[in-house]
Amino acid sequence: MAHEARDFGYLLGTLEGISDELLEAHFGLYKGYVARLNLMEEELKKTDKGHANYSWGHWSELKRREAVAFNGTYLHELYFENLQAKGDPSAELKQAIDESFGSYDEFLKDLKATGLSTIGWVVLTKSRADGKLHTYLLTEHHTGLPVLQDIILVLDSFEHAFAMDYGTNRGGYIDTFVQNINWEVVNQRFAEV
Ligand SMILES: [Fe+2]
Repeated sequence: MAHEARDFGYLLGTLEGISDELLEAHFGLYKGYVARLNLMEEELKKTDKGHANYSWGHWSELKRREAVAFNGTYLHELYFENLQAKGDPSAELKQAIDESFGSYDEFLKDLKATGLSTIGWVVLTKSRADGKLHTYLLTEHHTGLPVLQDIILVLDSFEHAFAMDYGTNRGGYIDTFVQNINWEVVNQRFAEV
């Protein structure tokens, strides 16, 4: 089944410190990943597997880049979903944050430092390996996420997510992102894992 781009237009005019102009451009980029994912999946179906090779090969190149389009699509959906300031971390989530990071303030410091350490994504996960919360960073869309992770919060730290409004001030954007987290969505994700 083809992947379909979702409409996140309800975010327009509702975010503090992130302009509609930037959001509209970001939606366009996201839709590009969805279109590319569909194209790649179709192309894979009709491409000869007979010349698969680590050095070069059309099928092999598609396969190597497949996760770029996939994560580019679904990390954006998770990110847009957890935008629009609502609620606070639930008591259960706060407890997990305290146990995993020491305190809520330490968690925020970790989130910001991780965002400043990548050109790409930051995810807050619950690990199936140790049951704790972790932040991990991805460079590009497909590199760096450990296995056994359930994602509960996503921060887009690519320049396209802030440069129009913040220039090179990635830290300022991350502070703004934190102010715009939809904790109702994050609490729900946490409750489900
Ligand atoms: Fe993005």
